[in-house]
Amino acid sequence: MMNNLQGKTAFVTGGTKGIGFGIAAALLQKGVNVAITGRSQSTVRDAIKKLNENGNDSTYAIGVEADVRNMESQKEAVSQIVEEFGRMDFVIANAGLGHFASVKDLTLTEWNETIETNLTGVFLTLKASLDQLIKNKGYFITISSLAGTNFFANGSAYNASKFGVTGFTQAAMLDLRKDGVKVSTIMPGSVATHFNGNEPNEEDDWKIQIEDVGQIVVDLLQMHPRTLPSKVEVRPSVPKSSS
Ligand SMILES: NC(=O)c1ccc[n+]([C@@H]2O[C@H](COP(=O)([O-])OP(=O)(O)OC[C@H]3O[C@@H](n4cnc5c(N)ncnc54)[C@H](OP(=O)(O)O)[C@@H]3O)[C@@H](O)[C@H]2O)c1
Repeated sequence: MMNNLQGKTAFVTGGTKGIGFGIAAALLQKGVNVAITGRSQSTVRDAIKKLNENGNDSTYAIGVEADVRNMESQKEAVSQIVEEFGRMDFVIANAGLGHFASVKDLTLTEWNETIETNLTGVFLTLKASLDQLIKNKGYFITISSLAGTNFFANGSAYNASKFGVTGFTQAAMLDLRKDGVKVSTIMPGSVATHFNGNEPNEEDDWKIQIEDVGQIVVDLLQMHPRTLPSKVEVRPSVPKSSS
């Protein structure tokens, strides 16, 4: 039995570009209405325009200016989504950033921004969404990273945040499955996005593309209700060094 996604609603944090945008676009094509968030009204507005121009006739996207680091902002985003669509079934905690430097040079400001966005932001997104997720027996998906299981030099803040997201998501999965809420984490390797100042171009062809992550989210949501792939590692099939 494949789950029918038609008429459902998803909340994607940080959907103005990159992976979140790819997930939103994939869900719209599958009959899911989508709300995205970002930190500024202009980036949210531009993304919504693009998503709705390329969308499916029966679905649409809305955007809310909301910062994942702020609980009130997350609660307000959820209220607006439920007011617009009448329900919220799926939440994809995607918003994130990276500061990469030796721990000798990493500043407290960079550390705090990384942990507050990538880790505390995921917690706040879940807390703000819990009532809807439990009511609708929904699905909560985090975007961790292979950096959430493999550490590397200059990655101390990012590794700490993503190891945290991996652990948080797995523990939340054990808590919430008793309520009929599915929880998974997707842990990608290199994806062609705007992450850390990157500008996606043809040299990024070897990387995972944003639509591929969108496909993984759709596949998880369509999985038989009895089965839960709780942790999904995904990497480029051929790493750059050997291509
Ligand atoms: N790219 C990769 O190789 C890769 C690999 C593994 C995991 N990831 C993870 O994937 C997620 C998405 O990253 P990406 O690669 O798609 O990067 P990206 O292209 O830079 O997109 C990041 C998104 O997060 C949003 N965002 C950042 N801080 C936010 C905040 N405080 N509140 C709300 N939204 C915020 C940005 O929106 P605004 O700028 O409009 O606010 C943007 O929509 C991150 O969690 C990242 O760690 C990325």
